Amino acid sequence: MQDVAGKVAFITGAASGMGLGMARAFAEAGMKVMLSDIEDEPLQAQVDDLKSKGFDVAGVQVDVTSEEALHAAADKTLQTFGKVHVLCNNAGIGVGGKSESCDLRNWRWCMDVNLWGVVYGLQAFVHHIKAHGEGGHVVSTASMAGMYGVRNLGPYNAAKFAVVGVMETMMAENRDTGVGVSVLCPGAVATNIANSTRNRQEEYGGSATPSNLDISAAALAQGLHPDVVGKLVLEAILKNQPYIFTDPSMRRMIESRMRKILGGYDFADTCEALSGAEQSSLQLS
Ligand SMILES: NC(=O)c1ccc[n+]([C@@H]2O[C@H](COP(=O)([O-])OP(=O)(O)OC[C@H]3O[C@@H](n4cnc5c(N)ncnc54)[C@H](O)[C@@H]3O)[C@@H](O)[C@H]2O)c1
Repeated sequence: MQDVAGKVAFITGAASGMGLGMARAFAEAGMKVMLSDIEDEPLQAQVDDLKSKGFDVAGVQVDVTSEEALHAAADKTLQTFGKVHVLCNNAGIGVGGKSESCDLRNWRWCMDVNLWGVVYGLQAFVHHIKAHGEGGHVVSTASMAGMYGVRNLGPYNAAKFAVVGVMETMMAENRDTGVGVSVLCPGAVATNIANSTRNRQEEYGGSATPSNLDISAAALAQGLHPDVVGKLVLEAILKNQPYIFTDPSMRRMIESRMRKILGGYDFADTCEALSGAEQSSLQLS
């Protein structure tokens, strides 16, 4: 998208942190914004605050683990603003634990919010973005934990790697559709994610069950301001940038992972088992 003024954005997890940062940046750029969140009171407070500054925004309560709620939110966005151009699948929770031993309710909560929430968002909104032919953009918030396996983050890593995979597929499928696709992979950002259990639904153990996240609120408070991330996402949409990173010092994590992966090809080139074996010419694109 080369011009966003007057265009419509829908954002999940917009009552706090990076989602709120995106809402502010988009509104300041002249967009109409539908903010959504599971937390109704903070959502209404942020919508009221933006409205009091003269921005054209509205709010809808959405739990992203509900497919129906996301379809209802798409309907409300169209009823309120007529169209939708930008989708930000941003809502997420932080949960820790080793893959082999972590409480399965943590696994399910993490996958339901952090992965299924993204899938439901894509299914509810992308066809509406394509329908008007004016172009648009889809951004999903993954994490650097979607790029690199981090200790004690088994479920979170799995969900965020999956989000990166889904969005890379969306990039391949939307090359000529006029809809840009990006995946946001933040490093540390000063948000409320360390306090994610506030939103843990009863079916996943309720708010009293510990999230086992090693990252403390105090450590996260040293992170980037979420409003900076909001501006970064807007700039990435305008420049059609597929991968959005927030912390350049984490580049070495990607380089280290790529070196380890390429080491697998060095092994394949020299191993006995593959020596002289017939290979298919299949290439994936
Ligand atoms: N803060 C970081 O350092 C960091 C780093 C990498 C990735 N992320 C990702 O950034 C995204 C935004 O998180 P944040 O850091 O701004 O945290 P945050 O807690 O400040 O904001 C997340 C928002 O999502 C909402 N939410 C939680 N569960 C929901 C649900 N089921 N349905 C709808 N909304 C729900 C929360 O109410 C909250 O408003 C998440 O996807 C998170 O995984 C955060």
